[in-house]
Amino acid sequence: MQNNKDQIDDIFDKFLQGPKIFTDREVLRPDYVPDNLPHREDQIQQIAKILAPVLDEARGSNIFIYGKTGTGKTAVVKYVLNRLIRRSNEIGALVENSYVNCRLVGTVYRVLLKLGESIDLKIPFTGLATSEVFDRFEDALDLKGVLLIVVLDEIDALIKVYGDNLIYELTRVNETLNKGKVSLICISNDLLFKDLLDPRVLSSLGEEEVVFRPYTAPELKDILLERAKISFNDDVLMAGSLNLCSALAAAEHGDARRALDLLRVAGELTEREGVAKVTEEHVRCAQKKIEEDRVVLVLKTLPIHSKLVLCSIYIMSRAKVKNAITGDVYEVYIELCNQLGLESLTQRRISGLINELDITGILNARVVSLGRYGRTKKIRLAISNVVIKDVFSNDPWTKKIIDYSPKCMLNK
Ligand SMILES: Nc1ncnc2c1ncn2[C@@H]1O[C@H](COP(=O)(O)OP(=O)(O)OP(=O)(O)O)[C@@H](O)[C@H]1O
Ligand SMILES: [Mg+2]
Repeated sequence: MQNNKDQIDDIFDKFLQGPKIFTDREVLRPDYVPDNLPHREDQIQQIAKILAPVLDEARGSNIFIYGKTGTGKTAVVKYVLNRLIRRSNEIGALVENSYVNCRLVGTVYRVLLKLGESIDLKIPFTGLATSEVFDRFEDALDLKGVLLIVVLDEIDALIKVYGDNLIYELTRVNETLNKGKVSLICISNDLLFKDLLDPRVLSSLGEEEVVFRPYTAPELKDILLERAKISFNDDVLMAGSLNLCSALAAAEHGDARRALDLLRVAGELTEREGVAKVTEEHVRCAQKKIEEDRVVLVLKTLPIHSKLVLCSIYIMSRAKVKNAITGDVYEVYIELCNQLGLESLTQRRISGLINELDITGILNARVVSLGRYGRTKKIRLAISNVVIKDVFSNDPWTKKIIDYSPKCMLNK
């Protein structure tokens, strides 16, 4: 029998001797900003025109950018800003910029910390009231007399938790400062986000709106072609494979991130197989893998009671109950809660959780009439039992009940 060391060496040798698929795989990573962004010429020009007065140290209008995920919002804004800052440095204009991803940064306090950093203002990591931090930021900005372009990306994540006060304050800064100025760019992929804003905030933020519509399949193909040229070796990628990546991503919702992920994962699967060409079959496998990874992530991050609902449905399906109804799922769920010593939720709440799981596509719930007994839902898993078993056998709570046989099912 081979020992571990030899096995690993074999893997490495096979990799080194196998066909070379990528010239530069980093180019396919999501945070890579390409030099060229096909099919976003209009948005690039629009944003560049709105921001151009900044080169004269005059404030550009605030911009509100929206469009679905993967439509190039972040890439385009970073691209235009890079160019703008380069030009302003050349001519010695007093312009700074601060890009903040609100979802990653998380709190208003930390957003302000980041904005402060960009004008060399040191703020303690904790301890001050947010209003105090904002005052310090304003003073520092005025003292420096710079024009600061603030980009708040994925702004909806912040607003949903903290409200729109920060945007309100930022749009008002220009009225109070003598020398410093702020131009604000807010980006969101949640189209309903505008409803969360106070009308005053909306009118000053939405001085200019730029919309990013989803890409079509031919547009995605152009984007992929450009990227493939610099990331894949010649003749590795079959034309049909590239077309399929664009078609699949266009069918999803015109998402360039998904298209690029498909291409990268298809390349990686090809490489692991040790073959020389990326085929359509590799793309289909990539699609399956990405979808499974997404489902696994969703399952892992569900709240405990949703996990228990799924475990209940899984246990019933394992016992060959094909179309469980809400009441039966609830009985199993109660037993699982008892097993774990958890307080159970009401049947009404569980019915709500079932609806949420239905929306995420993890299960299918179909309303059926029980005649004079009212209505119920017939529920079945929309993902494979194997995935559920895998994920929930490794979860600290659900691993204790995933193999349990509920008593309420004995006489069914
Ligand atoms: N026109 C384009 N040309 C080349 N690459 C693009 C283009 N549009 C998007 N991309 C690439 O697709 C990926 C997703 O784009 P980006 O991150 O800008 O999307 P987004 O609109 O900000 O999405 P989200 O709302 O999820 O943040 C990135 O890797 C980006 O480089
Ligand atoms: Mg983005």
